[in-house]
Amino acid sequence: MKSGVTPTNVERALGGDEFIVTKTDAQGRILYANRIFIALSGFSEAELLGSQHNIIRHPDMPRSVFKLLWDYIAAGQEFIGYVKNMAKDGSYYWVLATVTPDRDAQRNITGYTSVRRKPQPEAVKVAGALYQEMLAAEKRAGARDAIEAGSAVLNQAMNGKSYEQFVLAL
Ligand SMILES: Cc1cc2nc3c(=O)[nH]c(=O)nc-3n(C[C@H](O)[C@H](O)[C@H](O)COP(=O)(O)O)c2cc1C
Repeated sequence: MKSGVTPTNVERALGGDEFIVTKTDAQGRILYANRIFIALSGFSEAELLGSQHNIIRHPDMPRSVFKLLWDYIAAGQEFIGYVKNMAKDGSYYWVLATVTPDRDAQRNITGYTSVRRKPQPEAVKVAGALYQEMLAAEKRAGARDAIEAGSAVLNQAMNGKSYEQFVLAL
């Protein structure tokens, strides 16, 4: 759902001892949301369950970050990254997210689990500036070439490091 909500400059924050947890099916539809996610997102449990996880997508997030996320998790790997999310009222909150695949006894991916915690403000500053650059590159490139353009900015910022090394050093 692209909600039609107007983003505001109001920031919400996770507490230092809080975690947001959600589970999705293999297509990214929300199957489980913990109380903290329900409270922070401003959506009811009924609104969240069955919805695509992009229900809280913030327009400041580059598409290429989500492309990377899906490349990792669909290949069975863990993804870690900073994400700016948008609550139902347009306010925003940053998280450091870990997303991992769930598997059945045959090792098939049946869905995904994400756990997020409150990020360090210094890391948010760096990630936010990088995402602005990536988003600008995506917009300049146009829809068809957006992912490539955003990913190129990220690769340059990584400066030879692996993605994980880069993120964990932010
Ligand atoms: C377990 C899991 C958790 C996710 N969490 C978020 C999230 O917190 N915020 C978000 O914008 N997208 C999240 N996504 C990615 C969304 O599925 C989607 O790719 C993203 O919002 C971009 O949406 P769009 O392609 O419609 O622009 C998550 C995906 C999975 C599988």
